[in-house]
Amino acid sequence: MTVDGGTRLAGVIGWPIAHSRSPRLHGHWLAHYKIEGAYVPLAVRPENLEAAVEGLVALGFRGANVTLPHKEQVLRLCDQVTPRARRIGAVNTLVVKDGCVEGDNTDGFGFLENLKEANPGWRPAGPAVVLGAGGAARAILVALLEAEVAEIRLLNRTRTRAEALADELGGTIRVMDWGDWTDALAEASLLVNTTSLGMSGQPPLEIDLSPLPASALVNDIVYVPIETALLAAARARGNAVVDGLGMLLHQARPGFEAWFGVSPEVTPALRQAVLET
Ligand code: ATR
Repeated sequence: MTVDGGTRLAGVIGWPIAHSRSPRLHGHWLAHYKIEGAYVPLAVRPENLEAAVEGLVALGFRGANVTLPHKEQVLRLCDQVTPRARRIGAVNTLVVKDGCVEGDNTDGFGFLENLKEANPGWRPAGPAVVLGAGGAARAILVALLEAEVAEIRLLNRTRTRAEALADELGGTIRVMDWGDWTDALAEASLLVNTTSLGMSGQPPLEIDLSPLPASALVNDIVYVPIETALLAAARARGNAVVDGLGMLLHQARPGFEAWFGVSPEVTPALRQAVLET
């Protein structure tokens, strides 16, 4: 595709940005839908974030994704923030409209859409267990609260961090001790790992799955490797499993639609394109 004056522009703002898979993801969709658009990696140091957001408007960008370490800081730089982004306390998608920057957070949407894609019609019938209390957990907890899950059991190595998050988000979050697998997994309908454990280069997530009902769905947001030890262990005992790549793919949909005017589909070819190294 040639880039010219009519090309619609978007990108991803992060530091560092070289490893982001978003350019490949959006690049696949742009080619597939034959859109006159470009999506570029934008390496922005923290001290330049404000100028970069203003620059999007000045340069005529339709918007951008925002990734580490800027997702929290960028919120105060937006002209408007969606309720879900405000509740999560972080922004991952910027849309420029009439010179104004709107900040949204589509991570929780991506999380739920990923579960639904793998299990059409899925609804949590019992408690959901969330491991971890970092940035990824915030978006997932808000999505589960909005889906009106009856009980969310939150376990984090640093219990005080989980307690602070539960206090802030309210609702049906019950904090439990890290390692209290017996009580946490009993009667659960969903288990989600939002920690970095199990990611290549990180320690494994060591958890005894035996109290988990066979009907529970197990999701790991880690996608390098695509099949983590947690997912392999869950699969081996008969649980349905959902890998973490789909969350990345689905969170990208609302931004692509806002910038380029097409509601894109998550397909096996897209997964393949994003996984290729
Ligand atoms: P992110 O924004 O990607 O969620 P983060 O805010 O750094 O990243 O959070 C990482 C999560 O992984 C946290 O829940 C962290 O637990 P702590 O709050 O106790 O730090 C969890 N985590 C990282 N390494 C861990 C380990 N070795 N054992 C248990 N949990 C770990």
